[in-house]
Amino acid sequence: MTEMKPVTEATAVKAPVLPDAQTVLEVKHWTDRLFSFKVTRPQSLRFRSGEFVMIGLLGDNGKPILRAYSIASPSWDDVLELYSIKVQDGPLILKMQHIKPGDQIILRPKPVGTLVHDALLPGKRIWFFATGTGFAPFASLLREPQTYEDYDEVIITHTCREVAELEYGRQLIENIRKDEMLEELIGEGFADKIRYYPTTTREQSPKMGRITDLLKDGTVFKDLGIEGGIKPETDRAMVCGSLAFNHDIKAILEDFGLREGANSEPKEFVVEKAFVG
Ligand code: A2P
Repeated sequence: MTEMKPVTEATAVKAPVLPDAQTVLEVKHWTDRLFSFKVTRPQSLRFRSGEFVMIGLLGDNGKPILRAYSIASPSWDDVLELYSIKVQDGPLILKMQHIKPGDQIILRPKPVGTLVHDALLPGKRIWFFATGTGFAPFASLLREPQTYEDYDEVIITHTCREVAELEYGRQLIENIRKDEMLEELIGEGFADKIRYYPTTTREQSPKMGRITDLLKDGTVFKDLGIEGGIKPETDRAMVCGSLAFNHDIKAILEDFGLREGANSEPKEFVVEKAFVG
């Protein structure tokens, strides 16, 4: 009679070992178009809040299919959080939306991106302009201590088609405001600096309209009690949305006299395309 080997954790796990594999810890579906998920963070991964990484799955041919995802968690967090769209053509996105806790995904630990504090000159007030899943890098930056060290006021605008698409951001900001651990880390009363300005374009909500139109006609400034609009001496901005949105906001910021900066040449604003994303 052959002796039975005890089933240890090592012998029980049958999942294939992927290169740069990380484990899915949590998945939350927000709407039929949007979901967020948390994965283990590789020890080797260092990133700056606001950056993105390549994430994906193995394709049918056994080769990794990777796309850029903005990291929604702050740089100090133990786990990585991602916020993404589901419905789009392409095999990866279709499969990614079906991931569940315990699954493995591939994560290339090489973060990049322009929405980082180093790309901006010192200022007093920072604007985060997001549409749709372009909120993700700001979910990271809103939990980043440097945001509050560098600025007296942090204005986050988020424009979505429908009210339900604002929910991830709304809850995140609500949780930031009551998170005692975060207050201990960042400083007492830090969340009082946040001003949240959500708008919708295709469903009734308290504030309707594209943020671009609301900036151009001065509604935003009136609502927030800001005299004289955006000023290059004091205001800084980070932008994350669709290509068309980025293009339009960039033109508005330039009309206010702000210049686009980069890591290598910090100026008054920076722009990133919302990835997958
Ligand atoms: P709209 O409904 O008027 O197109 P999407 O879901 O297509 O990524 O869009 C997210 C949000 O961004 C929508 O509310 C959309 O408004 C808005 N949006 C899209 N393009 C622009 C743009 N060029 N300027 C301002 N807002 C935009």
